[in-house]
Amino acid sequence: MQGWSGWADRGMKRSAGNSVGRARGRLIVVEGIDGSGKSTQLHLLDKWLRSLGLNVFFTEWNSSDVVKEITSKGKKKALLTPTTFSLLHATDFADRYERNISPLLEADYFVLADRYIYTAYARDVVRGCTPSWVRKIYSFAKVPDATFYFRLPPEVAMDRILEGRPKLKYYEAGMDLNLSNDEYESYRIFQSKIVEQYDGMIKRDGFAVIDATLDIEEQQSQMRQHVRRFLPARFATVMPEPNGDSTK
Ligand SMILES: Nc1ncnc2c1ncn2[C@@H]1O[C@H](COP(=O)(O)OP(=O)(O)OP(=O)(O)O)[C@@H](O)[C@H]1O
Ligand SMILES: [Mg+2]
Repeated sequence: MQGWSGWADRGMKRSAGNSVGRARGRLIVVEGIDGSGKSTQLHLLDKWLRSLGLNVFFTEWNSSDVVKEITSKGKKKALLTPTTFSLLHATDFADRYERNISPLLEADYFVLADRYIYTAYARDVVRGCTPSWVRKIYSFAKVPDATFYFRLPPEVAMDRILEGRPKLKYYEAGMDLNLSNDEYESYRIFQSKIVEQYDGMIKRDGFAVIDATLDIEEQQSQMRQHVRRFLPARFATVMPEPNGDSTK
């Protein structure tokens, strides 16, 4: 596994802006292109941590009620510019951060985030925003204790998505960017650009890279091996069984 060195205590030391101070909670994040298996893996991790009796909170990108309606309206009518698109997502994130993520970390929770600031760093830059501007917007956010990056070729991700539903979504295929009239070709170009952005963050942002072509159990086992170090001492002997939800 690449890109993993030195991350273990990073979250406690480096945070910007309104840091959560001496919070004892742990922030675990998944990132990767659409269809790379993030939700599948985070759900399994969530089940495992809950089965150990730990306090867990799950949060996902673009899910705050505060901006849901306007984002959806803007997307439908193609009213959004790269800047307004970016700022709406930042508002969504800030709402969830201040309402849930930060207080629950203070309260010693495991906070599991399905996409975090790195999604904005990748997507907004591909849509034309300046990287330093995007990073500044999110500078109030804590650096996660672990960021798992599910690395998968866009072609494989697209096949997986199309096995589950008949069509790609407009924004998932980057159709707003006029990359190609063909949605499959547009998806390939758009998601390849996103992969490029993520790849550039591996070292800088201390990502743990997971080979997302591996089977579900193997990936989950790798995740649990890493998350184990965050468990309270009484779980020192817990085995991270990929399918299990017990403490055997
Ligand atoms: N390791 C794997 N091998 C094969 N198929 C997988 C694997 N992991 C997940 N899948 C399947 O791929 C599809 C996409 O997975 P999932 O929804 O977890 O991706 P995601 O990264 O959360 O996507 P999105 O960003 O769109 O939310 C699902 O149908 C899932 O069952
Ligand atoms: Mg998902």
